[in-house]
Amino acid sequence: MTKNVLVSGGAGYIGSHVTVELIQAGYNVIVADNLSNCDMTCFEGVKAITGKKDIPFIKIDCCDRDAVFRLFDEYRIDAVIHFAAFKAVGESVAEPIKYYRNNLDSFLNILEAGKNHGGCNILFSSSATVYGETDKLPVTEDSPRQSATSPYGNTKQICEDILRDVVSAAKSYGESMFPGTRKNGPVKGIALRYFNPIGAHPSALIGELPRGVPNNLVPYITQTAIGKRECLSIFGNDYPTPDGTCLRDYIDIVDLAKAHVAAVSRMLDGKMKKDYEIFNIGTGRPVSVYELVTAFEKVNGIKLNYKFAERRAGDVTAIWADPSLANRELKWAAERSIEDTLAAAWAWEKHLAE
Ligand code: UD1
Repeated sequence: MTKNVLVSGGAGYIGSHVTVELIQAGYNVIVADNLSNCDMTCFEGVKAITGKKDIPFIKIDCCDRDAVFRLFDEYRIDAVIHFAAFKAVGESVAEPIKYYRNNLDSFLNILEAGKNHGGCNILFSSSATVYGETDKLPVTEDSPRQSATSPYGNTKQICEDILRDVVSAAKSYGESMFPGTRKNGPVKGIALRYFNPIGAHPSALIGELPRGVPNNLVPYITQTAIGKRECLSIFGNDYPTPDGTCLRDYIDIVDLAKAHVAAVSRMLDGKMKKDYEIFNIGTGRPVSVYELVTAFEKVNGIKLNYKFAERRAGDVTAIWADPSLANRELKWAAERSIEDTLAAAWAWEKHLAE
């Protein structure tokens, strides 16, 4: 029987790319989104790319517990990929209650609905932000987590811990706590820790659609290139790195989406080695902000207007992944070159301007 995967936040940037890859891998996808941070552009793009016009789209806020329960009543959900969350680091510092309320409530509702429906397989979208500033690079999944520097980062850590605890309770108490438990076990969980997702689908039909002034580097670059922003500020050129700018592990969005298919298959095919697993999803290659900017200019034949500016508060100097666990266990590896990724990001920005 074809498995049903619920993608919460499936109309957003990462969710839409994951939906495409899941459908192309043969899964039925149910998209749930409240459209609080996106419109239907990417969902329409998903339909165009996959040629599937009847993908169920449920407009709900996952903080609405009754609505989430009704969704689980209506569909047999074999796995959930949970993206529905707020993600602006700066805003989370200004509005912590909004962030804790939204990001924790929505995840708890998904977990509780799964529990009350005989269990579920849950894939949680975590972040490399849980590692904070560290000298021991690259980071492995066993690298210690540092105290979060923002409420956003803290919600990622807390949700990882909630998932770990729910999986552990399901294992210990099984049928008594999880009535009607499924054959595969009541609850299994995977947290994927993303490094810096960038780029867009090669079709240029889906991509990142930030509201207002972008916080993240690549949308700021493409908006500057197209003329929506006057000048890119490179935050800091006095870091202790080869060219003085920060180092990050930029992961192509389609590569990242494919990691989700590998992780979901691992859960649904009963291949997990532990009931709760964590994987770094990155390339393993550090790239500086300056290198990224010059690569963008070169591959797209554009002269970008940029300047060096003060460091941005809260930025870590350098972070990149050791992705060998994901390479080995998920049989997944980042494949696309940074040039292809930056060309796709530019094609998407131009598509938006059409
Ligand atoms: C942030 C979050 C991360 C989240 C990711 C994607 C933290 C510490 N980081 O990562 O959790 O997953 O966004 O949403 O919580 N830069 C500029 N000029 C700009 C914008 C950025 O120079 O206009 C630089 C930054 O200083 C940084 C690099 O580009 O060195 C990447 O920044 P950004 O895209 O915002 O991602 P992170 O801060 O690494």
